[in-house]
Amino acid sequence: MLDIKNIKIAVIGLGYVGLPLAVEFGKHLPVVGFDINAERISALAAGTDHTLEVSDEELTQALHLSYSSDIQALKDCNFFIVTVPTPIDDYKQPDLTPLIKASEAIGSLLKQDDIVVYESTVYPGATEEVCIPVLEKVSGLTFNQDFYAGYSPERINPGDKEHRVTNILKVTAGSTPEVADFVDEVYNLIITAGTHKAASIKVAEAAKVIENTQRDVNIALINELAVIFNKMGIDTQAVLEAAGTKWNFLPFRPGLVGGHCIGVDPYYLTHKAQAIGYNPEIILAGRRLNDSMGEYVVTQLVKT
Ligand SMILES: NC(=O)c1ccc[n+]([C@@H]2O[C@H](COP(=O)([O-])OP(=O)(O)OC[C@H]3O[C@@H](n4cnc5c(N)ncnc54)[C@H](O)[C@@H]3O)[C@@H](O)[C@H]2O)c1
Repeated sequence: MLDIKNIKIAVIGLGYVGLPLAVEFGKHLPVVGFDINAERISALAAGTDHTLEVSDEELTQALHLSYSSDIQALKDCNFFIVTVPTPIDDYKQPDLTPLIKASEAIGSLLKQDDIVVYESTVYPGATEEVCIPVLEKVSGLTFNQDFYAGYSPERINPGDKEHRVTNILKVTAGSTPEVADFVDEVYNLIITAGTHKAASIKVAEAAKVIENTQRDVNIALINELAVIFNKMGIDTQAVLEAAGTKWNFLPFRPGLVGGHCIGVDPYYLTHKAQAIGYNPEIILAGRRLNDSMGEYVVTQLVKT
């Protein structure tokens, strides 16, 4: 088992999620930030984060953080954190290519007792069914005997300067009870808001994907109500204000769900549901409705 005093962290994928995390860990522990985008690495090494998630000053505070686009720079690392993108393809199916490529790269370096923690948003089961077999195949090592895994989803919202990686409570999980404790201990070094240790990797994966799915469906309902009230000439804001005076009415507002999370993550869950023979109705209806809102808003604007 690893000792927290001897861990050397690798963060794989330095985007909106990976960079702030690498910077926070880099204030306390040796960290190598890795990205396949060499330009991103050069800019970070020169002290600039083009995503503006981390200021130039904060970058200089991560005294133990170095950057590389050469995977060999991670060969002495023993705690790998994967923060690569998890997009959908043209058919709205999960595209796990970046996760698989990152797992192949880590597998080529994996050693006895190493821990690989995934942070990318996935469907429940993806870590154990997709990523770990890749790690085992490339490394020749055995899961939960030679190396271990964890999952800790991220909740940040790009551009939000109030809710930042350290002050958002973080869910953690590990592939054995001991590893779960260890992963939790490592994150507690930087997360001042504390952590919630989930019962398993699958529970943590499912928790993340439903956070955005719940939001998507709730916004879809309010969007649908707004379309109905609009047709009836009733002011939706006034209706929501009146209904909102009841103690258990949820304060959602109509709007467009943008970004690369809420419009994408539910499809990871619906893909898995369909793969196991269940056709999700409410989640997909919510997705369709929210996807159509852009066109609806434009049509309404043209009419006025
Ligand atoms: N952006 C958010 O607000 C947010 C919030 C919570 C969770 N997430 C999830 O976190 C994950 C990462 O999202 P993001 O917004 O940081 O993505 P991003 O696109 O900002 O960054 C991903 C980085 O990974 C790099 N990359 C791609 N393939 C790689 C590989 N094989 N090896 C190494 N680096 C690789 C890219 O060059 C890029 O710099 C996704 O699963 C996303 O759903 C994102």
